[in-house]
Amino acid sequence: MKLLILFILSVCSVGEKIRYDGFKLYKITPTTRQAADALHDLELAENPDFNFWNPVRQVGKPVNVMVPPYQTSYLETMASSLGMDFNVVMEDVQKQIDLQQPATRATNDSFGWTRYHTLDEINDWLRNISTRFPEIVTFIEAEGKSYEGRSIYGIRISYSPDNVNNSVFLESNIHSNEWITSAVSTYIVNELLTSSDVTVRQVAESHDWYFFPVFNPDGFVYAHTADRLWRKTRVPHSILCLGADPNRNWAHSWNSIGTSNSPCSEIYSGPEPFSEPMCRSMSQFISTVAESLVGYISFHSYSQLLLLPYGHTGEHLENYQQMYDIGLKAVDALAARYGTHYYVGTIYETIYPASGTSADWVKGTFHTPIVYSYELRDRGEYGFLLPPEQILPTAEETLDSFVTIFIEYQNSLNNTG
Ligand SMILES: *[C@@H]1O[C@H](CO)[C@@H](O)[C@H](O)[C@H]1NC(C)=O
Ligand SMILES: *[C@@H]1O[C@H](CO)[C@@H](O)[C@H](O)[C@H]1NC(C)=O
Ligand SMILES: *[C@@H]1O[C@H](CO)[C@@H](O)[C@H](O)[C@H]1NC(C)=O
Ligand SMILES: [Zn+2]
Repeated sequence: MKLLILFILSVCSVGEKIRYDGFKLYKITPTTRQAADALHDLELAENPDFNFWNPVRQVGKPVNVMVPPYQTSYLETMASSLGMDFNVVMEDVQKQIDLQQPATRATNDSFGWTRYHTLDEINDWLRNISTRFPEIVTFIEAEGKSYEGRSIYGIRISYSPDNVNNSVFLESNIHSNEWITSAVSTYIVNELLTSSDVTVRQVAESHDWYFFPVFNPDGFVYAHTADRLWRKTRVPHSILCLGADPNRNWAHSWNSIGTSNSPCSEIYSGPEPFSEPMCRSMSQFISTVAESLVGYISFHSYSQLLLLPYGHTGEHLENYQQMYDIGLKAVDALAARYGTHYYVGTIYETIYPASGTSADWVKGTFHTPIVYSYELRDRGEYGFLLPPEQILPTAEETLDSFVTIFIEYQNSLNNTG
């Protein structure tokens, strides 16, 4: 009954912003098997009152859980009775959401990396740079539309026709609540076009680049206009809950592990592979350029990880050692600037098993040599609500690691002849 009332309330509030006043964000670390299992059971219950920002993993791995004010004592009692370490990292989630989206554009309305931008602003910026660099940048509209009828826009950057078989694809904001991801990827693209750093220029001018900053435009618009924490698509697979997880919907070992069949789950695989129009559309575009790709880089947040395929199996790929070694050099370069530490490893072993990801699909279908997924800042202090002041430092350190990947890959080719 309570659920039904909640449901009716939420339907009635269409058009209004969903607020998280007084909601607390906890960081909880299960210290025993029993505690981890209890927390996992709470996660599987899919009670919307207990919103897990990341899945429960092993003993010793912290998770963020967000709860409304009337559930804080339940959660704290459970955590203490099972001897878990826990603390409140955010006293009022709505306050942090408001801080993250201040009444901006008062002073300076230009595109940049001091605040988070809307879909229209990002798409305008893509158009702008294609007119500012007409010889180098081509504006692209992918074929097909999102469920709500939006186009998915991207660009191609090419300094020389010789680079055509040395292309790299950048993906961000497939998860629409991970706003730092398109902020970082647009920064990287801007540097590829404008930096005077010798290393950045060398990397920029020796590859072609395909770049689609917002893979999931419907979710992204909804996260800006209605629910800041929205992750999935907006396809109505069920009357109770909308959307599927667009990073569990790709046709490689689809729905085999680390997914859910429940449309209300944050990791719902969708009813079939490529059921989500934006996944279908982007997979078709990627297929048209796949033969020319040496790299596919996807950006997610948060956790500070540099991840290798696969997500659906712990088996290592034939070039695992090479990619792991390059990954270590990349995260060293990343840490050198501001001391931000990342771990390197496969999706399966380092974060959690997950099937139907875009990275697994690209690797499994096209055998692209360089496939990495970033989980950007932070480690659960702000999570998805990373303050705008951290956009620029996050982007700078990520660029340091990004260029290292391509420099080191080139070195490894030269060394093996
Ligand atoms: C505001 O924008 C102008 C260009 O439009 C730029 O020169 C200036 O540095 C910006 N100021 C700030 C504080 O970002
Ligand atoms: C695009 O360029 C126009 C004209 O130069 C400018 O007014 C507008 O602010 C720019 N928009 C973005 C998002 O860069
Ligand atoms: C790119 O690869 C294709 C297919 O292997 C080949 O036909 C073409 O000549 C290559 N282009 C360049 C510029 O190397
Ligand atoms: Zn993600």
